[in-house]
Amino acid sequence: MATLNNDINEILVSKDELDEINRRLGAQITKDFADKNLLVVGILKGSVYFMTDLTRHIDLPLKLDFLAVSSYGGGTTSTGAVKIIKDIDIDLAGYDLLIVEDILDSGRTLDYVCRMLKTRGANSISVCTLLDKPERRVVDLTPDYVGCSVPDEFVVGYGLDYDQQYRNLPYIGSLKRDIYE
Ligand code: IMP
Ligand code: MG
Repeated sequence: MATLNNDINEILVSKDELDEINRRLGAQITKDFADKNLLVVGILKGSVYFMTDLTRHIDLPLKLDFLAVSSYGGGTTSTGAVKIIKDIDIDLAGYDLLIVEDILDSGRTLDYVCRMLKTRGANSISVCTLLDKPERRVVDLTPDYVGCSVPDEFVVGYGLDYDQQYRNLPYIGSLKRDIYE
């Protein structure tokens, strides 16, 4: 029988650690956005698990929206080409945006998204990423909120995919190399 766990090399962020990250970031965001007009924008599809858990720890009125972009296709390395598949529905004027992303790798995706959104009249734009691979950065982008850093390995689970699979793993793990090589 094919199970997801068999394809994982090592658990890098456990369920308990994910809980702890969501609590910590939720409390910080609650403080930082207390007097603001918060609109949380999740980047589909990788951020869905993180966004739904994180926002339950934000004790403020807020709205949710989504943006779908594609940058990777089925492989494991960035092409640099970013395409908007689904745009945000809400007019951004007057909102303080918190963009929620699963992982910051080269930074190209978020750099493109932030530059595009800056032209739309939001009060402010902040970036929250669950995972960061700082060694891989090719554009100058520093996130405002980071769950944790991970080594330069291909990781899946808790929303992150390889070829659209593994998103439903309840933890973050590194994928065995023979799966994608
Ligand atoms: P960037 O544009 O290179 O920063 O890539 C960011 C996007 O690539 C993320 O939103 C993920 O969808 C994907 N990505 C980068 N590294 C990984 C990984 O290790 N596992 C799964 N997806 C990844
Ligand atoms: Mg993504």
